[in-house]
Amino acid sequence: MDSLTIRTPDDFHAHFRDGAMLSNVAVFTARQFGRAIVMPNLVPPIITTEQALAYKSRISVALPDSLQFKPLMTSYLTEDSDPADIERGFADGVLTACKLYPAGATTNSAQGVRNIERVYGALATMERIGMPLLIHGEVTDPDIDIFDREAVFLDRVLSRIISAFPALKVVLEHVTTSDAVEFVESSGPNLAATITPHHLVINRNAMFQGGLRPHFYCLPIAKRERHRLAVRRAATSGSSKFFLGTDSAPHRVGDKESACGCAGVFNAPFALESYAKTFEEENALHHLENFASVNGATFYDLPLNEGTITLERSGSEVPLTYGTGVDTVIPFHAGETLAWRLKPRE
Ligand code: NCD
Ligand code: ZN
Repeated sequence: MDSLTIRTPDDFHAHFRDGAMLSNVAVFTARQFGRAIVMPNLVPPIITTEQALAYKSRISVALPDSLQFKPLMTSYLTEDSDPADIERGFADGVLTACKLYPAGATTNSAQGVRNIERVYGALATMERIGMPLLIHGEVTDPDIDIFDREAVFLDRVLSRIISAFPALKVVLEHVTTSDAVEFVESSGPNLAATITPHHLVINRNAMFQGGLRPHFYCLPIAKRERHRLAVRRAATSGSSKFFLGTDSAPHRVGDKESACGCAGVFNAPFALESYAKTFEEENALHHLENFASVNGATFYDLPLNEGTITLERSGSEVPLTYGTGVDTVIPFHAGETLAWRLKPRE
């Protein structure tokens, strides 16, 4: 097979940032995808509907109209979030989902949730109106080893949320463990999960290959090989419970290559090419369309995109860097040649 045409895909988890970074990175997602769920962990975070609307217009300004891309906005849940504002934002079509960050779990999560019961009012509203809850599923207890934080979250927090709100739609974001895969597979239809390109490609050794490799450091952190294999099986299985969410998370090169480097992999420029590589290696290219373009939209109750995109086997050379000076960002697969290439949309 030398060419693969699929329905226009969506990215159900992307970080666009703000200001100069927004202008530099949003276009990469908009070239590949029809829509993206835009994460709200800015400084300060996007909490209210008004903030989400203003951020949405900054995104539109940063993108050429010709791309016909639709950002799907999210609200960052805090213990003070106003359920009435969330309900209005969802009813007006400004907000698509709310994001739950346990406080301290990842980049810009300091204002996140410490005690899950303090957001039960918001979760009850979301359950009633059919608004998805997106979860960064890691505990933050310093006594829990960083490689166990996702698995422990399933038992300690996610199972409680699901039993308290059985009709709430929940997306467990960026799953990295066999524990999370099994949890999602054995739960009911209201729990689904996104999977990133990088967690399909790297295991935890990548961070230490011949030295410290900060561009493979992200959260949840990459795990052992057996977990990567479980995540690959889930993504390529054809199960409708797993779908595409890149977690493209750019940081300036100086913020990554630092004594205390930021977490995040910038994978937006060649995200589809990277997923295609994994699906081809697993002899599952026939499942790529459902994973990339159908399962997520169906779970979110969104119409499927109308158009198509085409991947060709003509090779992509991934640049070593994007941007210049302090704004330089290093992409995932930097310097590699990937077999597939996304044909630019007309
Ligand atoms: C993300 C970021 O930089 O905003 N980082 C990451 O490692 N994935 C936050 C997140 O999704 O955890
Ligand atoms: Zn993220």
